[in-house]
Amino acid sequence: MKAVAALPERREVGLVDHAEPRVVAPSAVLVRTLEVGVCGTDGELCAFHFGFPPAGESYLVLGHEAVGMVQEVGPAVRNLSEGDLVVPSVRRPCSDQDCVACRTGSQDFCLTGRYTERGIFGAHGFLVERFVEEEKFLYRVPPALREVAVLAEPLTIAEKGLRQYLAIQRRLPWLREADEISLLAGRRAVVLGAGPVGILAAMLLQQRGCVVTVYSREEATSVRAELLRAIGVTFLSAAGLSVEAMAEEVGGIELVYEAAGAPALSLSVLQAMAPNGVFILTGATGAGGRLEFGADALLNRMVGGNFVLAGTVNASHVDFVNAIADLDRFHRDWPRATRSLITGRHGMEEFAARALHRTGIKEIVDLSGDG
Ligand code: BGC
Ligand code: ZN
Repeated sequence: MKAVAALPERREVGLVDHAEPRVVAPSAVLVRTLEVGVCGTDGELCAFHFGFPPAGESYLVLGHEAVGMVQEVGPAVRNLSEGDLVVPSVRRPCSDQDCVACRTGSQDFCLTGRYTERGIFGAHGFLVERFVEEEKFLYRVPPALREVAVLAEPLTIAEKGLRQYLAIQRRLPWLREADEISLLAGRRAVVLGAGPVGILAAMLLQQRGCVVTVYSREEATSVRAELLRAIGVTFLSAAGLSVEAMAEEVGGIELVYEAAGAPALSLSVLQAMAPNGVFILTGATGAGGRLEFGADALLNRMVGGNFVLAGTVNASHVDFVNAIADLDRFHRDWPRATRSLITGRHGMEEFAARALHRTGIKEIVDLSGDG
């Protein structure tokens, strides 16, 4: 069976012949892969900046953003059957009995760092004709979402970020009991970056009634800017507008959702927030950069403003459930914008080139004709 894999010893990414998976465990599900998304993480993997194969193996099957169709289920599988569309989650728990996060289904908060991630760290991914997964790590998707379901995993990153924000906001005494609607309605939110995660985060915040501005390096006339404007989001190009001027235009930044992976930008926006501002950091940055900046001023601003800076990675069970429900809302309310996030479909052999030189918004590998 064909798969796309990274071979660290040879520093190569290419097609490999991968063993056909079988349903052995009673709770296992055999899935035929339909589509796999390409993301920034894949670029890092193809450049061998991080990632590693499963213990004792020479290659890592790539691909962590997937949608597939159930082909066979084990006898103990209760809620999935042949023909169902499913999206798999990415991270798998560590095996440490003392890791309270992994032992309670919150491996996205793993304490030991010995978790695995399918297609990234120590576990094969989904860029393969068929894969086997435990039922509990698969999420059913309504058939109407077939075309856009590959966006569910990147959307889970935004969903988890949003939940962090809600939890943090409840630190304010007058919001302790506030419901999600009142925590978000009218909130002035700035999204940094107009990649897939940034755009999906903007959609999510817009859906929840925030006043959303995306601040990004693209031109104000770009396809991304137009897509965002079409759903009511303000787009401000960093090309012609300083961070201070942007903050001024927003009129008091209450929430920042960072999905740009640009440290200098993050630090200056962090200082430009309104009192009690919350900054959610999701973008990874290339290792090794060094910045010169006024740390005193930044930390003083953070103290004086009651600012919170929160990093977030990966996603929980509830984030997958919410992502699928929200994708359905996006697709219903903004069908054109949602579909236009997927900018290209490619064959398996094109994966590495697409991951290393990212163009478009979300490029995907289409496996539906294979296998
Ligand atoms: C994935 C996450 C993952 C992270 C770090 C991202 O691209 O969407 O699920 O946790 O990379 O490996
Ligand atoms: Zn990804």
